[in-house]
Amino acid sequence: MTADNPRKHPAAAGSALHCPQDSLEDDAAVVLVVDDEPELCRALCKLLTRNGYRVLTAGNGEEGLETLRREQVDLVLTDLQMPRMGGMDLLKAGQVVSPGTEFVIITGHGTIETAVDAMRAGAYDFIEKPFSTGTTLKVVDKALEKQRLLAENRSLRERLEEIKQVHDIIGASEPMRRALDTARQVARSTATILLTGESGTGKEVFASAIHRWSERGSLPMIRVSCAALPETLLEAELFGYERGAFTGAVGQRQGRFEAADHGTLFLDEVGEMSPTTQVKLLRVLQESVFERLGGNRPITTDVRVIAATNSDLEAMVREGRFREDLYYRLNVINIELPTLRSRGEDVLLLASHFLQNFNRKNGKSISGFTPEAAAALQGYSWPGNVRELENAIERAVVLSKEDDLIGTGVLPSSVVNGPQRYSKLDIGVGVTLKDAEMALIQATLDSVGGDKETAARILGIAARTIYRKLQ
Ligand SMILES: Nc1ncnc2c1ncn2[C@@H]1O[C@H](COP(=O)(O)OP(=O)(O)OP(=O)(O)O)[C@@H](O)[C@H]1O
Ligand SMILES: [Mg+2]
Repeated sequence: MTADNPRKHPAAAGSALHCPQDSLEDDAAVVLVVDDEPELCRALCKLLTRNGYRVLTAGNGEEGLETLRREQVDLVLTDLQMPRMGGMDLLKAGQVVSPGTEFVIITGHGTIETAVDAMRAGAYDFIEKPFSTGTTLKVVDKALEKQRLLAENRSLRERLEEIKQVHDIIGASEPMRRALDTARQVARSTATILLTGESGTGKEVFASAIHRWSERGSLPMIRVSCAALPETLLEAELFGYERGAFTGAVGQRQGRFEAADHGTLFLDEVGEMSPTTQVKLLRVLQESVFERLGGNRPITTDVRVIAATNSDLEAMVREGRFREDLYYRLNVINIELPTLRSRGEDVLLLASHFLQNFNRKNGKSISGFTPEAAAALQGYSWPGNVRELENAIERAVVLSKEDDLIGTGVLPSSVVNGPQRYSKLDIGVGVTLKDAEMALIQATLDSVGGDKETAARILGIAARTIYRKLQ
């Protein structure tokens, strides 16, 4: 996103052309006008500055390219025929020097064909001389809108790459960073860890990561879901059994606690365990010893247990449904995974991550999201957390064309019209526009935990504008 990079404030050549740029917003888009007719440069400079753009000018392609190297330019408006380097060469070289810049071609008589070539080479559009101010502004607006959109999606992909170089748990928000820090810190100990959090928040993802980061990471992590099996089968699964231990136990079998020796056992949905099994689990955790079902030979095991639940174990302890001693034994270290709605700024990062995955799976190359789709994704409350987002993106990729952007049309209607994360703002008539604006900025900031970048994205303004308004 261009707005992320502090703009070098160019002493615009425009000042020499009598179009002062001091009153422009700090985050005004930068347009470079390249034409060998000073008259035309001056006219465009005036027109664009008056409409809120910062303008740079150059008299030929070479000068233009030099400016592209030096300054951060959002859009180039270039003539085709100029002395030294022409517009077509500037386009080709400029795309290499400044990949995030859009190009619009200015064409004179008899150069329409070249203009069409230029569009094939990646220019956004062309305007014909003599041009009307209306058409020019419309083309410039549209080209800049596209530039902004691509820049935003590109910046998202770049941030994602940075995160992925470190680990495959996506998240940059404060609550996520805290959870990750704790996980990394405790991974190397043998302490039992209890992962809590709503369904779909990433408890299993964290369990695998903690296992991988531990000294036991070279062995596979063994997972047992305590919800999937009735009592006897779960105990047989955990502790193994001797022949004849129960009807159907025709041979003997090793349990997961034995199989996970020197490794990690992930006890998923531990809140679903029956009281009898809870007692047996407590004993292994305390003494590292157990017997197979129907056996009496004590078996010692060295297992690191990671447990997960989306039930409120504390409440279950109060209600007598979960053993208090087991709860404390499991809850040596608790990592509470944040809900997706409390991690506003992670939504688009995760969405981009899933977009890449599902692009690969479906052989598509969708490069990002339209601003409306991005806003809908960020505004939704995601009761099903990351899993719900993952499913929504898979559906969107399947429904989108090859190389489109993802729009609101392919998002589930619950996301577009469903429960929104943001509360309504009560602004009565009689309030000044300025106060209403401040109230909206403040409420948006509150809803994203004070994160100015995300708030700015939702409000459709630059983060810098928020900083300035808050001062
Ligand atoms: N931070 C993350 N980065 C990337 N993918 C994630 C992240 N968090 C969750 N996911 C993905 O979201 C889905 C749900 O995550 P997971 O199964 O770990 O949730 P859970 O908390 O165990 O849910 P449940 O309580 O329903 O079992 C998975 O497909 C997982 O890969
Ligand atoms: Mg799970």
